[in-house]
Amino acid sequence: MTHWSLLGRRVLAVGPSLAPLARGPLFGAALEMAGVERLAEARAGAVDLVLVDVDSLDPAGLTAALDALAASGAAPPVLLVGARLPAALVRAAMRLPQSDVLEPPHTDDQVREAVFGLLDAVGAQPPAMASSSSRCWSIVGAVGGAGATTLSIEFASALAARANREHAVCLIDLHLADGSAAAYLGATAAMGLAEFGPAAERMDAALLAAFTTPIAKGLDLLACPRDPLAFEQISKDAVLRILEIACEAYDFVVIDMPRHRRPWTLEVLGGSDEIFIVSELTVPALLAARALASEVEATLPVGVRTRVVLNRLASRMFGPAPSVAEAERALERKAEAGISSDWEAAAASVNLGGPISQHRPKSKIVRDVASLVDRLLGVQAPPARRGGWPRKAA
Ligand SMILES: Nc1ncnc2c1ncn2[C@@H]1O[C@H](COP(=O)(O)OP(=O)(O)OP(=O)(O)O)[C@@H](O)[C@H]1O
Ligand SMILES: [Mg+2]
Repeated sequence: MTHWSLLGRRVLAVGPSLAPLARGPLFGAALEMAGVERLAEARAGAVDLVLVDVDSLDPAGLTAALDALAASGAAPPVLLVGARLPAALVRAAMRLPQSDVLEPPHTDDQVREAVFGLLDAVGAQPPAMASSSSRCWSIVGAVGGAGATTLSIEFASALAARANREHAVCLIDLHLADGSAAAYLGATAAMGLAEFGPAAERMDAALLAAFTTPIAKGLDLLACPRDPLAFEQISKDAVLRILEIACEAYDFVVIDMPRHRRPWTLEVLGGSDEIFIVSELTVPALLAARALASEVEATLPVGVRTRVVLNRLASRMFGPAPSVAEAERALERKAEAGISSDWEAAAASVNLGGPISQHRPKSKIVRDVASLVDRLLGVQAPPARRGGWPRKAA
């Protein structure tokens, strides 16, 4: 799995021109600026990554330092940034276990890609995540109104009920401009981006708590008040930083993801343990779900898979909806689960403000979500009355 940020990573930056990277693509890393003399002493246990500004250094001295580093047998990965790389220097870099070259001018994304590529190659886990057993589920709708927010809330609420302790689950609404999770929960969104944006850089769990809204035992909400310019006000690094801190502070993070691609979308999905695509039983929604699932799986590292959840399964008496089998043919994959339709329960809960599990605990929606959550958590469910989630539109 790739990582959301460089939080806590120890990066040795050799060459003064690299300092501005600390506020951009290396945001969150513990950056040590150093001269070439420190390079030869860098060891994998103490440094996660070395960045070298080749053009600002004497090529002979730099080549000698890389040779010494390779000879140590414990060299950390090295990223050489430079337009002119002498052959001797390239040969020295090739003797290192992991190295890469980046040619200026480069974008922040190219730096990030090279850095994460090297870190992934070493297979190192970020220190903050290594000790954390936190899990993150992202939920995205295949089409507008498919039920992504409803299911995000029900997943979060089911997980909080199972955790049965304070601050176990954080529901994060990443529809920064016009999210509806707070309204559905009858809660006040507390993450005002005017205050939150500047604080993101020094964000920690205590500060994050000031921006969350308690919803129920074990469940907190992180959502922004309505603001049409919200997406422009917060950087990719700040969004990823919030998620990283939330994962440290909570056992479970559930993300209500916007459908449209944002600069941080792929990193958020790539850092999630599960990605749910919510579709309804209409042909356009199923085709959109299929396209979205293949898009995400083709873009993220090999092995990442999405799970399609069919929402609002209803009796065929109410219209010519496809059956689940027909839906799976259109999806070209098995659906992970189906969630029954229950308009009365869904409407009652949004009008009263709160999860369906609170206002209509006997709803089929609650039952279907519970069996999916238990299955994914590996909990042995009691024998289901009707054999699990409805495979057929009754
Ligand atoms: N299983 C269900 N049964 C009945 N109604 C449902 C169900 N799931 C969601 N709804 C209702 O469908 C409507 C759309 O749901 P929701 O807002 O969760 O969708 P969304 O995918 O988040 O939409 P958007 O694209 O606007 O973010 C809401 O009125 C919600 O109460
Ligand atoms: Mg929504």
